Amino acid sequence: GDSVVRRERFSGGPAREFLSSLSADERIFAADLAVDRAHVVMLAEQEIIGPDTAGEILRALAAVEQAGHEDLPEGEDVHEAIETAVIDRVGPEGGRMHTARSRNDEVATCIRYRLREDVLELIETVVEAREQLLDVAAEHTETVMPGYTHLQPAQPTTVAHWLCSYESALARDTARLIDAYERTNQSPLGGAAFAGTPFDIDRERTAELLGFDGLVENAMDGASARDFLVETTAAVTGLATTLSGLAEDVVTFANRGHVEVADEYASTSSIMPQKKNPDTLELVRGRTGDATAGLNGLLTTLKGLPRAYNRDLQRAGRHAYDAIDSVTASTEVAVGAVVTAEWPADDLADAAGEGFSTATGVADRLAQAGIPFRTAHEIVARAGEAADPDIEAIGAAVEAELGESLEEVADREAIEAALDPEESVRMRDSRGGPAPAALRAHLDRVREDLRAD
Ligand code: ARG
Repeated sequence: GDSVVRRERFSGGPAREFLSSLSADERIFAADLAVDRAHVVMLAEQEIIGPDTAGEILRALAAVEQAGHEDLPEGEDVHEAIETAVIDRVGPEGGRMHTARSRNDEVATCIRYRLREDVLELIETVVEAREQLLDVAAEHTETVMPGYTHLQPAQPTTVAHWLCSYESALARDTARLIDAYERTNQSPLGGAAFAGTPFDIDRERTAELLGFDGLVENAMDGASARDFLVETTAAVTGLATTLSGLAEDVVTFANRGHVEVADEYASTSSIMPQKKNPDTLELVRGRTGDATAGLNGLLTTLKGLPRAYNRDLQRAGRHAYDAIDSVTASTEVAVGAVVTAEWPADDLADAAGEGFSTATGVADRLAQAGIPFRTAHEIVARAGEAADPDIEAIGAAVEAELGESLEEVADREAIEAALDPEESVRMRDSRGGPAPAALRAHLDRVREDLRAD
C-alpha cells in the first residue's frame, strides 16, 4: 500500500537524520496523542470511520502512550511514527486515522496544544513571583533606601517602592503572555494540507475536545501561521528583559552593601576565600540572551516563507521552547533571590542621605512656600556646593539668592525636616510615590489586580 511505497521512496540515505525531527518531537508526543484521539473521535461521530475501527485505533493509541516516546518505530517525525505504531497494532484499518487531515494541520495543532501548557506554567510562575514580591514589599514600606538615576544618588525611596516597581512591570509581562496565550489557543486542525477536505468533518468538535477556544479558520493560514510563536517568544523576551533589570539592580545593590543575597542564591570563589558573589542574578541577566536568541532565530526562520507548509517550520518550535524553558527558570530564581535577601535597614538609611539626595525635597518645600521652583532649584544647588549642605547652608543660599532670611520666606523647621531621608520619603505621598501611605494604597490596588490575573 501507500506506506510501503512511501517507505521505499524515502527510506533514508545521507539526509535521513537531517530530515528527522523525531527526537525533538518528544516535547509534542503527548500532544500528538491527544490530537489523534480527538480526530478519531470526531471521525467516528461524523461516521467517516466505523465505531469498531475507531475503538481499535484508540486502544492502539493507549498502548503507544503506555510504551512511551522512546519505544516509537522509526519515522521522519512523531506524527509518522505514531501512525506507523498504530498500523503495526491494528493493521491497514489503522491507516484510517489519517483520513481528512495532514501532518501540516496536525503539527500546527500539536505545537499550539503544547505551548499552551508551557505558557500557562510561565504565567503561573510570574503571578506567584508577583505575589511574593508584594508580600516582601508589605514588610518594607518604611525601609528607606537610596534611589538612583544614572547610577548616581538621586532621591531617597523605600525597598517597597523598588519592589513594587518590578511587580508593576511583571504585571504587564503577565498581560502580554495572556494575550499571546489567547491567540495560541486556536485550532488549525481539519485544515488538512492547507486546502481543506471533501470529508464532512466537524472542526468545532475537535477544537472543543482539545480545549481550544476557537478555530484558525482559513486552512491555508492554519498550516502556515507561526506568529503565535513569535508573540509568545516576544512576550517571554520582554519578561526576560524585566528580570535582567531586577538582577542588575540586586548585583549593584550587593556591590554597595545595600542588600545581602542569601547563601543559597550566592556562589563562592575557588581561590578567593572571602568571596560571596551574586552569581544566580548574573545568570538571570545572562539568560536574557537565551530569550533574544530564540526570538531572533524564530523571526529569521519565518522571514519570507511562502504559503503554505514549508519544512523550515520544523525548526521554528524549538526557539520558543528554549526561550520559555530558560526564562521560566529565571523567573523562579530571580524572585527567589530577591525575597530571601536581607535588607540592612540602618545601613540603607545612612546611605539614603548620601550625595545630598534630599536636595529635591528641600527645593519642593521652598517652592511650596511660594518661591518659583526654578529659583528654589538655584538656591538648593548653591547650598549643595557647601561641604555639608545643612540647614545653615540653605539659609545662606536663600540670603545670597533672595536677600531675605530663610525664616522670612519659609518654615525653617519644615525645610530642616526635608533634609532627613525618612521625612523626604514621607512627604512624597503623591499617587505612585514612595511615602508609606501612598505605597500601602498602591499595594491594596495591585493586590486586587493580581487576584484578577
Ligand atoms: N515534522 C514536521 C514539522 O515538525 C511536520 C511534518 C510536515 N511535513 C511535511 N513534509 N509536510 O514541522
